[in-house]
Amino acid sequence: MKLFIDSADVSEVSALVKGGLGLIDGVTTNPSLIAQSGASIRERIAELCAIVDGPVSAEVTATDFEGMLKEGKALAAIAENVTVKVPLTEQGLRCCYALSREGVAVNVTLCFSPAQALLAAKAGACFVSPFVGRLDDIGHDGMLLIEEILDMYRAYDFATEVLVASVRHTGHVVAAARLGAHVATLPPKVFRALYKHPLTDRGLEAFLEDWRKTKQTIL
Ligand code: G3P
Repeated sequence: MKLFIDSADVSEVSALVKGGLGLIDGVTTNPSLIAQSGASIRERIAELCAIVDGPVSAEVTATDFEGMLKEGKALAAIAENVTVKVPLTEQGLRCCYALSREGVAVNVTLCFSPAQALLAAKAGACFVSPFVGRLDDIGHDGMLLIEEILDMYRAYDFATEVLVASVRHTGHVVAAARLGAHVATLPPKVFRALYKHPLTDRGLEAFLEDWRKTKQTIL
């Protein structure tokens, strides 16, 4: 499963890419993350594209077909590894279809149902982004949606990759991997949490304590 970082914070993404042993396969952003960063979208996407050797999702903010198409083309022109993100609306899917036919990679975002995911695949999306955390937040089962979409896509061999978004904790990442999701996009703190287990820390502490008593050195 590919791991993307869901952030528009250049220093955070850069630190994870450098320290991440090649574990980071891409980045996703959205208008809220760009707003939080305080940066200009074009500059920020260019910076992220230079840091990451993989797709960087940049989202349109127009809601009409023509506007989305223009914005999508402008975003795609920033760098070769831009993936244009469009919302899962009727106009967004029209835009996905048009851009995909021109060879632009499209990520259809804000997906909350299998029916929506079916349309995204038929519109030629490179990725579909179901939001598991936001579904869990309202008492639904986000991972069930991932399972349903994967079943459907496998039944028809759709090329669209399922990009698990709105990930809140490591449990979501493991559940996504067990289902065979293609990608999960993680907030930096969830990525870092993947390394952690209290028994690892406690075990290492005990090993080192015992080792110190031997007064040995390996080198
Ligand atoms: O970038 C899309 C998605 O990952 C946002 O997640 O945490 O705002 O629900 P969240």
